[in-house]
Amino acid sequence: MNKNIIAIDGPAGSGKSSVAREIAGKTDFFYMDSGAYYRAITYYILNIYKKENNIDKFNDWLNQKEIHFFLKSIVLDSNLSKTEENKTYLNSVDVSKEIRDPEVTEEIKYIAVLRDVRDFVNKNLYNLSENYKIVMDGRDIGTEVFPDAYLKFYLTADPEVRAKRRFDEYTEKGVKVDFNQLKEEIIKRDESDINRKIAPLKKASDAILIDTSNLSKNIVINMILSRL
Ligand code: CDP
Repeated sequence: MNKNIIAIDGPAGSGKSSVAREIAGKTDFFYMDSGAYYRAITYYILNIYKKENNIDKFNDWLNQKEIHFFLKSIVLDSNLSKTEENKTYLNSVDVSKEIRDPEVTEEIKYIAVLRDVRDFVNKNLYNLSENYKIVMDGRDIGTEVFPDAYLKFYLTADPEVRAKRRFDEYTEKGVKVDFNQLKEEIIKRDESDINRKIAPLKKASDAILIDTSNLSKNIVINMILSRL
C-alpha cells in the first residue's frame, strides 16, 4: 500500500480539484493536479512544436515516431506548495496560466489517448510521489497510476451541476462563456475520457464514490477527512 497517495478521480467539474486542494491545506499532504501535465504537453504541441513545424491538426500528423521525438524535448515540473498555488513548468518556463486556455482543453483528447504520453506523465507523477505525500486528482490515479494508493475517492455530479460550477468559476474570473456550450463541452469530454481504450475515466473498485450534485464543498471535504 502506498501511504504517500490519496487518489481523487472523477469528471470535469465534479469538485475534485477544489476539494483535493483543501484536503492538502488541512493535512500534511501536498496537492497535485495530474491534468496539468496533460495540459502542459498539449500546450507544448499546440504552441511550440506545431508552430515550429507548420502543422495544423493533431490527427493529420501525430504518429509514434513524432511522439517519441517531442517527448524527448519536454521536461515537466511542478512546485508543490503549501503556501501558494502550485505552478506547472514546461522546460523551466511557468505555463500555469497558458495551460488553462480553452484551445488546450479542446485538443487534450488527442494527447491523453497516447500510451507514450501517459507513460511519460506517470513517470513524472511517480517521481513526485517519492518525495511528497500527495492528494492527487485526475482520471486514472486510483486505477492506473497508483492502484495501491492508501485511499481512493471517485467524485461525480450531474452534468448540469458540473457545467454550472465551471460557469461560475469563469464568471468569477471575468471570463464570458456560454452556459450551454460549456455543458456540451463537458459532456463531450466525459465521453472521450470514459470511452478511450487506454486509462479511461472509471471508478476503481475500491474507491469511495461521492456524488457531489447536492453536497456543499465542506461536506465533501469532511466526508473525505473522516476516512483519513
Ligand atoms: O480540471 P478539469 O477536470 O477540467 O481537467 P483536468 O483535470 O485539467 O484534465 C484535463 C484533461 O486531461 C481531462 O479531460 C483528461 O482528458 C486528461 N487527463 C487524463 O487523461 N488523465 C488524468 N489523470 C488527468 C487528466
